[in-house]
Amino acid sequence: MRRISITSGCVLVAGLAAGYLSGFANPKIIKTQEPAAEAPIPAADVAKTNPVKHSSEGIAAAKKLYGYHCAMCHGAEGDGKGDLAGDMKLTLKDWRDAKSLAKMTDGELFYIITNGRGKMAGGEGDRTKEEMRWNLVSYVRSFAKKDVAAKR
Ligand code: HEC
Repeated sequence: MRRISITSGCVLVAGLAAGYLSGFANPKIIKTQEPAAEAPIPAADVAKTNPVKHSSEGIAAAKKLYGYHCAMCHGAEGDGKGDLAGDMKLTLKDWRDAKSLAKMTDGELFYIITNGRGKMAGGEGDRTKEEMRWNLVSYVRSFAKKDVAAKR
């Protein structure tokens, strides 16, 4: 009886090990674990312009939210050097440099803030009102403007 249970135990362990190893050895399995390629942002979203007027109240509210939801990655100064970005080994754009976002429309920024992208999983979705997400677009852009002002 004892003998049988030892044998079946060995078979079980061997079976588990084989399954475990084949998971690593089989490139097909590894491939399916990679994140899916990002779909391009729809043209209608890229073309959107910011409908929310720039206001100091809006920017102040966005700044507060940014501190809670974004700064851990993008950095309090928008330099892309937040603690979490460091932990996740992310290379983020330095928004203080006006060139960093020059090729992106407000619509694209809004889309990414809303839906997330790549390692910025999730996005704000509906947990943040649309108006506030547009304020975040303005706030993100303001890091470069501050830099210009500081250099004057
Ligand atoms: C977990 C870290 C993380 C958090 C938190 C995060 N982001 Fe991002 N963000 C990223 C990464 C990574 C990218 C680049 C995505 C890509 O293009 O693959 C990105 C891209 C962006 C972009 C597009 C421009 C660019 O620099 O590529 C904007 C705008 C943006 N984030 C805004 C925000 C805002 C606003 C918040 C908070 C509401 C936020 N992010 C929270 C990691 C993060």
